Amino acid sequence: MDKILKRTNMCGDLRKEDIGKEVVLNGWVQTKRNLGGLTFVDLRDKTGITQIQFADALQEKANTLGREYCIGVQGTVIERESKNDKLATGFIEVKATDLVIYSEADTPPIYIKDDDNVSGDLRLKYRYLDLRKPIMQDTLAFRSKMNNVIRNFYFENGFTEVETPVLGKPTPEGARDYLVPSRVNPGMFYALPQSPQIFKQLLMVAGTDRYIQIAKCFRDEDLRADRQPEFTQIDMELSFVEQDDILEIQEKFLQRLFKEMRGIDIELPLPRMKWDDAMNKYGSDKPDLRFGFELHDLADVVKDCEFGVFTDALKDGGKVMGIDINGASAKFSRKDIDKMTESIKSFGAKGLVWIRYEKDEIKSSVNKFFDQEQLKKIGEVFDAKEGDLVLICSGKKEVVWASLGFLRRDLADKLGLLDPNDFKLLWVVDFPMFEWSDEENRFMAMHHPFTSPKKEDIHYLETGELDKIYADAYDIVINGYEAGGGSIRIHDRNLQKKIFEVLQLTEEDIKTRFGFFIEAFAYGAPPHGGLAYGLDRLCMLLLGTDDIRRVIAFPKNQNAQCVMSDAPTFVNQNDLDILSIKTTNE
Ligand code: AMO
Repeated sequence: MDKILKRTNMCGDLRKEDIGKEVVLNGWVQTKRNLGGLTFVDLRDKTGITQIQFADALQEKANTLGREYCIGVQGTVIERESKNDKLATGFIEVKATDLVIYSEADTPPIYIKDDDNVSGDLRLKYRYLDLRKPIMQDTLAFRSKMNNVIRNFYFENGFTEVETPVLGKPTPEGARDYLVPSRVNPGMFYALPQSPQIFKQLLMVAGTDRYIQIAKCFRDEDLRADRQPEFTQIDMELSFVEQDDILEIQEKFLQRLFKEMRGIDIELPLPRMKWDDAMNKYGSDKPDLRFGFELHDLADVVKDCEFGVFTDALKDGGKVMGIDINGASAKFSRKDIDKMTESIKSFGAKGLVWIRYEKDEIKSSVNKFFDQEQLKKIGEVFDAKEGDLVLICSGKKEVVWASLGFLRRDLADKLGLLDPNDFKLLWVVDFPMFEWSDEENRFMAMHHPFTSPKKEDIHYLETGELDKIYADAYDIVINGYEAGGGSIRIHDRNLQKKIFEVLQLTEEDIKTRFGFFIEAFAYGAPPHGGLAYGLDRLCMLLLGTDDIRRVIAFPKNQNAQCVMSDAPTFVNQNDLDILSIKTTNE
C-alpha cells in the first residue's frame, strides 16, 4: 500500500447534485464486472454502495480486484448510463482517476449480503464479516442511537449515571453466577453481577436519588433465543417514589423511545394487568396481546361430566381450561394436533382434548364421554363458531397455564398473526411475592428478596400463608416478551430480615451474604424502587426480530461459546496454580 486516500464522502452519500465533483471513497469491493472496455466495481461501506467505473490505464489494476478487497478510489462523479432506482446512489457513478489497494482478501466464507442464509455458527465464526452486511451495520447504528435516546431521556429527568463494580459478591437474581478467582486472595472468588441490584439500592441510601446505568450483567443459565449469558440492562433506581411514579416515568421513556427509534406513537397510559388475571386469561405472565385465543375456565361446564381426567383434575384442586383457535379448525390436521400434544408434555401436560365445531356436527377426541349437547355447552363458553378448533388441557393450574399459554402463541405464530410491526405494551403488576420451588423444597422470592410485599399482605408473614402475599412488583411486557421488570423495595431493615428468614436463610447466611446491606439500612434509608430493562431485548423488539444475537455485536452460541475466539478455553495448570485452583476435569 503506497498511501491512504483522504476520504471526502461515504459510499451512500452521492446524488445527482454531486455530478462534476472530485471525490475520494474508501470501502470494500462488493462486486466487479469486466465489460471489455470498462470495469465496474460496486464499492461498499457502512452507509451504502457506489458504482465505480474504471477505464484506460486503471482498468488493468481494477481487474485484479477480488470480492472484499479493501480499497480507496479517487474520481469524478458522473451521471450513470443505466440508472438503478433501487440504490440511493443509483443516479450516479464515480469515474476513477486513482485506485489504492489497502488489503487483498481471500475468498470470504460467507457472502456479504443481507439475504445470505448460511448457518448461524458460520456467521458467528466469521462475525467480523457478518457484521459487514448492511443490515448488521444498521443494527449496530440503531443500538448506538438507542443508547443516546436512553441517556438523553434519563439525564433530562434528573438521573445520574453511575458505574457499579463488575467484580463483586453473588447477587440474588435466581440464576447461577459466573465466578472469577482472586489471585491475591487464594481460594476466594468474585461473582460477576447478575444485576447491579444491591449497589443501586446502596446508591439510594447514599443520596444519589435517581440512578441510571447501561450495565453489563452475567447469568449462567440455559440459553434461549431471547437470552444471552452476557447481556445489557438499562438499570435504574429512584428515591421517594411509589409504584405509580415509577411506571409513569417509564411510560414517558417508552413513548419517547418508540417515537425516536421507529416513529411509532405509543398511547399512554399503558394498560395494567394483575398477574393473576394474566395467568388466567393468557396462561402467561408475559401475555402477547396482538391476538385473542384467550383461556377460559371450563370447571362449571365439566364438573359433573363423565370424563374422569377432567373431574379428577378438579377434585385435586386443578383446572380444566381451553382456548378457541377461531376459524382455524381446517388449518390443523390430526397430525398437527398430535404434535401439539407432544409439545406440551415438556410442561407436564398429560394430554390435549380437541373439539372441532363443524357445519352439521361437533367432532372431538372425547366423543365417548360428551354428547353433542354437552360439546355445544362447552362451545358456548368460548362463543365458538363453525370452523373453530377448541383445545382443552387439565391438571395442575401451573401445567394448564403453561401448556395453553404456549399453544396460544405457537398457533398464532403458525397462523401468521404475529405482526412484528404491531406493538402491544402492557404492565403486568401485583406479582406473588413468593413461589414454591419443588427443587429447593421451599418458597423462593419470585422477583428478588428486596421486593416489598404489599402493605395489606404483610400480616401473612406472621401466619405463614406465604402464597397469599402479593408484591409491589411489575414487569413491562411487549408482544409476549418480558422487556423489563422491577419493584418497590423494602427499606425497613426489620422487614428485610423477616423476608430473609421466611426464605429460610440462616442468621449466619444473612450476616455473611447481606450483612453490609442490612447495616446500610440502619443509617436513614429512603423509600425507593426501580426497574431494569433488557436493552438487548428492547432493541430486538424494536427491530422486529426474535433472535437476540442479531442485536449483539459478538454474541455467544447456544452453548455459551464464542465460536469466533473459542471462548471459554482450558487453562494450563501453571495458570491455575497461581490462582490456587485444581480442576476435576482432566
Ligand atoms: P430481571 O431479572 O427481571 O430484574 O432482569 C431485568 C430484565 O433483563 C432482561 N434479562 C435478560 N436479557 C437477556 N438475556 C438474559 N439472560 C436476561 N436476563 C434478564 C429481561 C429482564 O426483564 N435487578 C432486577 C431489576 C429491578 O428489580 O430493578 C433484575 O435484574 O428483559
